[in-house]
Amino acid sequence: MIAFGLAMAQSPGAQAARARKANFNTLLGAYKVVGDELKRSDPDLAAIRPAAARMDQMARQLPSWFPPGSGEESGADTKAKPLIWTDPSGFRRKASDLQSAVSQLDAAAQKGDLQRLRAAQRTVSTACNACHEVYEERFW
Ligand code: HEC
Repeated sequence: MIAFGLAMAQSPGAQAARARKANFNTLLGAYKVVGDELKRSDPDLAAIRPAAARMDQMARQLPSWFPPGSGEESGADTKAKPLIWTDPSGFRRKASDLQSAVSQLDAAAQKGDLQRLRAAQRTVSTACNACHEVYEERFW
């Protein structure tokens, strides 16, 4: 059983799950950079712009972080619900909601429009939560 568990932990599905979590933490890091700057009275656009561009790039890649076989059946420690793979169109819709929110954020960042940036950051936050609520085991 132990040997089986180890073999599972190294399966391609389990590796994909680990890489996915690392990606989500990078995404969260960029999101926080933007959020922290926007809380300041004089946000630093030079810090916001690369973070927003990073988020834009990552949001486009997000669906590819969920290859079939990378759910709990992989043996990985994952909070990804099986529903992701049984309801792929619903999941893709949540991912594309994030993509549109983040591309607005990125556009506002490049323009240096703080008012739009703040609104877009709120929309991004809603899009993160909307997916977690349905497709992640723990809603944090
Ligand atoms: C389309 C769905 C979807 C969207 C949109 C989404 N997430 Fe997630 N997120 C997930 C799923 C599913 C998991 C669980 C992944 C796992 O445990 O394998 C997750 C997990 C996470 C984790 C935990 C990673 C870990 O170490 O366990 C963080 C942090 C996170 N997401 C941040 C974000 C942020 C920030 C956003 C928005 C900028 C976001 N997510 C948008 C689906 C989404």
